Amino acid sequence: MIQKIKIIKTLIIIFSLCFPFTANAQTVEEIIKGRKAMFSENYQNAKKISILLKSKKIEEAKPLMKKISDNYIKLLDYFPENTKEGFKTEALPTIWENKDEFNALMKKASDDMIKLAKAIETAEDLRAAQKELMWSNCTACHSRFRAPH
Ligand code: HEC
Repeated sequence: MIQKIKIIKTLIIIFSLCFPFTANAQTVEEIIKGRKAMFSENYQNAKKISILLKSKKIEEAKPLMKKISDNYIKLLDYFPENTKEGFKTEALPTIWENKDEFNALMKKASDDMIKLAKAIETAEDLRAAQKELMWSNCTACHSRFRAPH
């Protein structure tokens, strides 16, 4: 009996190693569309932040910064090896050739949004702060890792 349980357990382990993503698996389509949606949401929120800060609505802008920061962290899991192509992805192969660098840029972009939320409390030039801690990260990443268009 114990022997049988052992064999069954071993089989389960082997099976789960062969198919690591069977539970809650997201399809390639869901992953690519999911990351596009998160980048678009970040863009919308970045534009809202600009508008809010133009009228010095600092407290209203802060939750949007946190939201963008959180999305960047989620995005780290949205570039598995099997999502290099298809569904109109603009992701370049350089992402998977330089995964550490890509992830580091994503983390920096996330950290910078938290820094921005702090910086705007005292910054004299709100536009310069946004440029340094928000917009520059978009360009830094897109110029290397997103197809030009
Ligand atoms: C660390 C890398 C990185 C950072 C930082 C980054 N992006 Fe992107 N972005 C990408 C990649 C890669 C894609 C392509 C995703 C795809 O098509 O699969 C993309 C796609 C997009 C898209 C297109 C989404 C769609 O619907 O196809 C928009 C809009 C966008 N980014 C805006 C921004 C803005 C605005 C910022 C800064 C506030 C930013 N991104 C920061 C890497 C980044």
